[in-house]
Amino acid sequence: MKNKKMIGILAGSLRKESFSKKLGKAVVSMAPEGYEFRMISLEDLPVYNQDFDDHDQVPDSYVAFRKEIAALDGFIFITPEHNRSIPAVLKNAVDIASRPKGKNLWNGKPGAVFSNSPGPLSAFGAHHHLRQCLVCLNVYVQAQPEVYLAKIGEAFEESGDLNPSVKGFVQKAVDAFVSWVERLG
Ligand code: FNR
Repeated sequence: MKNKKMIGILAGSLRKESFSKKLGKAVVSMAPEGYEFRMISLEDLPVYNQDFDDHDQVPDSYVAFRKEIAALDGFIFITPEHNRSIPAVLKNAVDIASRPKGKNLWNGKPGAVFSNSPGPLSAFGAHHHLRQCLVCLNVYVQAQPEVYLAKIGEAFEESGDLNPSVKGFVQKAVDAFVSWVERLG
């Protein structure tokens, strides 16, 4: 029997009430048959220091994180924006799994970027800075649909679920990503 494809959902925030993490949880429930979507924790990852790799001092949390990334078949990055760019926690995670040199764990896998903001700008700056990093790492980043979610605080109902309109749009983007993964084999 064919194994399920595993897709990692990486939300670029450590905040307890993070909209990005809430969005990530909603995306996890949208996995179609034959797929498993799972949230990848970015907690406890020290800021990348090349000395860790060069002097055999790799933190246990890096070992576990790298193992998790290596086992995935694709990634959906959910990014908020910090000062018009990618939050440090997400960039740090991208950097950690890209090293040591020659062991880029993102290489050749499909990815998608969903950006969001509580304000009206939908983290456009972070979205495109992240795409730039992923292209450098040879992630096959899905082009369309572009997922920009503005006023994200208004997207959730009291139950914590996404409202039907946003949910419908995000589901379409997830379905397109799954087609992209299938197309790449
Ligand atoms: C922000 N925020 C923010 N928002 C935005 O739309 N553009 C920006 O450039 C910034 N810059 C920024 C810098 C820093 C240091 C912080 C802490 C916040 C606000 C940000 O969108 C808001 O805090 C989100 O709620 C963060 O995402 P999570 O934690 O809800 O996923």
